[in-house]
Amino acid sequence: KTRIAIFASGTGSNYEAIDRAIQAGDLDAEIVLLVCDSPGAKVVAKAKKNQLASFVFDPKTYPNKQAFEIDIVHKLKAYQVEWIVLAGYMRLIGPTLLNQYQRRIINIHPSLLPAFPGLDAVGQALDAGVKVSGVTIHYVDSGMDTGEIIAQEAVPVKPGMTKAELQTLIQKVEHKLYPSTIQQLILPESIRL
Ligand code: GAR
Repeated sequence: KTRIAIFASGTGSNYEAIDRAIQAGDLDAEIVLLVCDSPGAKVVAKAKKNQLASFVFDPKTYPNKQAFEIDIVHKLKAYQVEWIVLAGYMRLIGPTLLNQYQRRIINIHPSLLPAFPGLDAVGQALDAGVKVSGVTIHYVDSGMDTGEIIAQEAVPVKPGMTKAELQTLIQKVEHKLYPSTIQQLILPESIRL
């Protein structure tokens, strides 16, 4: 089975959706490690409950990004991680990680990129008055939500919709699109003789 690490900073609903897809037999992968940059995040407790190994760190205790990414790479190697799946990891990936995992790091973003990159994409879409937003899954490069797009799905924005309502709709789409897209990506290598 393909060995993946989840990187998350927050609630972890996408982590849970990926885990459910694996349990259901819809995704032929194994989550072997959680990496989290926020010690108090809900996702940390969820991983613990599932007895998933985690590397939780506070970036403020490191001199710079390179220093904590070196520690992350050591963990990833120790767990023989093959793919990095960003699921609400609210931090740019630096060259240390990018060079070790070329075209092996993917991210999910709650808008139809290249529209509304960065923080609060759902709020940005509502403020812009768009009638359609959605979800993007893309390879990660050094930019902010700029890497090559792998999959997208549109979500209609109804008049008067609140941010919470749009967020709920978008997350529903995310929880299906992320596991199925990961399965497509790992398919060629999951056939191991
Ligand atoms: C997700 O909606 C994801 O698209 C977004 O954070 C949320 C995390 O939710 N990511 C970004 O905005 C990245 N720029 P979760 O912790 O419940 O999976």
